[in-house]
Amino acid sequence: MTRAAITGWGKCVPPAVLSNHDLEQVMDTNDEWIHTRSGIKERRIAHVEVSDMAAVAGQHAIAAAGLEPEDIDMLLVCTCSPDRLIPSAAAMVQAKIGAHNAGTMDLNAACTGFLYGLTAAAGLIASGAITRALVIGAEKLTAFLNIGERATGVLFGDGAGAVVLEATENANEGILSTELGSDGRMTELLSVTHTGTEYPKGDPLYAERTVYMEGREIFRNAVVKMGESATNALEKAGLTLADVDLLIPHQANVRIIDATAKRMNLNPAQVYVNIASYGNTSAATIPIALTEALEEGRIKPGDVIVFVAFGGGLTWGGLALRWGDRTEPIRTSDAALPPTDKTGLELLAARPRV
Ligand code: UT7
Repeated sequence: MTRAAITGWGKCVPPAVLSNHDLEQVMDTNDEWIHTRSGIKERRIAHVEVSDMAAVAGQHAIAAAGLEPEDIDMLLVCTCSPDRLIPSAAAMVQAKIGAHNAGTMDLNAACTGFLYGLTAAAGLIASGAITRALVIGAEKLTAFLNIGERATGVLFGDGAGAVVLEATENANEGILSTELGSDGRMTELLSVTHTGTEYPKGDPLYAERTVYMEGREIFRNAVVKMGESATNALEKAGLTLADVDLLIPHQANVRIIDATAKRMNLNPAQVYVNIASYGNTSAATIPIALTEALEEGRIKPGDVIVFVAFGGGLTWGGLALRWGDRTEPIRTSDAALPPTDKTGLELLAARPRV
C-alpha cells in the first residue's frame, strides 16, 4: 500500500517582532491580559507577501528532503490570505522557487487548511497520480486586522511552514489516517468580511475588510472538535491515545491546547507549544511547529504524531502519522527573506486603517 511520508520540512517567519508591550501603544490592551488569556507574548509582522514567505519555507523543505524544486509534482499552498485572488499563491511560489514540473493550487480551509492540504496531497500520492508534493501553510492575516480592535488584533501573526510529502511503500512510516470536518452553519463566527464577490468593486463597503471573530463560541467548539477528531483519526489508524508520542496542535490559544491535551489525557511533554513566539499564524502554525519540534529534538524515529486543528468555516481536523527513520535534514538551504529595517509596530502602523 502506497502511503505519503514527510521527508522534508522548513519554516519562514518574518524578522519584525511585535510584542504585547508594543500593542499596548496602539490599542486598549495589556501584556498580562494577552498572555494569561491566550499564551501569546509576541508575533511576527510580514514586510513581504504570503508567496515570499511560502517560497522560503518551501525551499528549506525541499533541501531537507534532499530534492531539487524540479522534483516536485504538486505544489499546494494552504492559505486564506493569498497575495491575489488570481493567480494562486502556489503558482507565484512555483515561479519563485523554480518548481517547474509541478501542478499548482491553493486550498482555503482557514486555520485547518494545512491538515486539509496534507490530506489532499496524501490522497493524490496514494492514488498514484503524483509521487512528491510540497505542501505549504502560509498566512499574512495581519493584513486584514483592524488596528485598535483588541478582540482580534492581539491574536494573529504572519509566517509560513512547509513539508515535502513522498510516496513510500514502507508500512512503518507515513500518514496513517485523517479525520476532517466542517459545519458551514457557523460561518459567521469567524469571517474576513467585505473581500469577495459579496461586495464587488464600487460597493461603498468594498475593502472595509476586517477579521470578525466570536472568540468564546469558537473556543467552546474548538476544544470539543479538536479532541474528537484526534481520537477518531487514531481509531481509524488502529491506534489509541496511549500510542501518541507527540501532539502538534494548531496554535490559536494555549488554553485551547491545554484543554485538548487534558481531554486526550496527554502530559505537557507530549504536546508541542510555540504560540508565545508567533501567535496564531492560521494554516502556518502546524508546519512551523513541526519544524521547530524537529529542530529541538522533540521527534524520534518511529514516533506516533498527531496534528489537530480548528478554524473558520467552521472547520476542524485530526491527522495521525508515524515518523520515519530520519529526523535530520539531508541538506540545508540559505533561502531567506530580504531584510527590513522596520519594526513590527512600524509595519502594522503602515497598514491602512479601515
Ligand atoms: O484559529 C482558530 C480560531 N480562533 C480561535 O480559536 C480563538 C478562540 N477564542 C479565544 O482564543 C478566546 O476566546 C479569546 C482569546 C479571543 C478571548 O478570551 P476570552 O477569555 O474568551 O475573553 P472574552 O472574549 O470573554 O473577554 C473577556 C474580557 C471582556 O471584558 P468584560 O466584558 O469582561 O469587561 C473583553 O472586553 O476581556 C476583554 N478583552 C480584552 N481586554 C484586554 C477582550 N480582548 C481584550 C484584549 N485586551 N485584547
